[in-house]
Amino acid sequence: MCPPTYFGVVYAINPWMDPGRPVDVDRALAQWQGLREAYERGGHTVHVVDPVPGLPDMVYAANGGLVIGGRALAARFRYEQRWAESPAYERWFAAAARAGVLGPGGESVGQATEIDEGEGDLLLAGRYLLAGTGFRTTPAGHAEVAARLRLDAQGISLVPLELVDPRYYHLDTALAVLDDGALEDSCHAPLVAYLPDAFSPASRETLRTLFPDAILATPDDAAAFGLNAVSDGRHVYLNAAATAFAHTLRGHGFAPVPIEIDELIKGGGAVKCCTLTLRPHAPGRPT
Ligand code: ARG
Repeated sequence: MCPPTYFGVVYAINPWMDPGRPVDVDRALAQWQGLREAYERGGHTVHVVDPVPGLPDMVYAANGGLVIGGRALAARFRYEQRWAESPAYERWFAAAARAGVLGPGGESVGQATEIDEGEGDLLLAGRYLLAGTGFRTTPAGHAEVAARLRLDAQGISLVPLELVDPRYYHLDTALAVLDDGALEDSCHAPLVAYLPDAFSPASRETLRTLFPDAILATPDDAAAFGLNAVSDGRHVYLNAAATAFAHTLRGHGFAPVPIEIDELIKGGGAVKCCTLTLRPHAPGRPT
């Protein structure tokens, strides 16, 4: 995670951002701290990336890159305003690898050369890497991720998914991985929730085929950033305002953990956007 020390909405690169609307940085910091403490109470270890002055979107750590099987690839952003985040995340990955945080053979493989907004668009669900495109990460970015993170060798297939609604410009705003299917045993299928309308008809079909038991979110669930959630397979950390989706999750046996995060939603991101998952091991191996 990266604290919102230099957070602000000073440009608009997604429909949620309105530079005319004031932002309260202290409130953003307090909400971010609340999320961090909720993770720690849930037994998770949080590593913190130093924020960089002049990079107001750096708080959305999910976009910093992707780490699978200990290999870390730093992002390359579509918009110039975020370009300087890549070297900052890359330096953090390199230091983490040296410190052993990325596992025994962990390594930073550098920055992407194609547009690739990390876990904003790339979500691991069991042995599938669900890969969003349409607004940010490109198909060339997907190919680069597959090659540089050696997805084939790790037994992972990349599944491209086309996003069509500008409000849901990153995959993690339209789809949540609730159970990656590899958490406790690798026998059950991964469970996801998504907003069908955020996807092209062909991608909707792909999702229906891969995840026949998926939870279909409502437009209100998505608009409340309910899908921008982080799940450990039991606790689902999500925006406190997504009450209907929390109720749905409870009905499926999950324990929703509501997080006040509206100040950070002014930049177009919520819980998942503020969180990058480190995966020292390939899927199916102990984490
Ligand atoms: N303002 C940021 C942008 O438009 C928000 C990023 C949200 N991150 C996410 N993982 N969806 O790039």
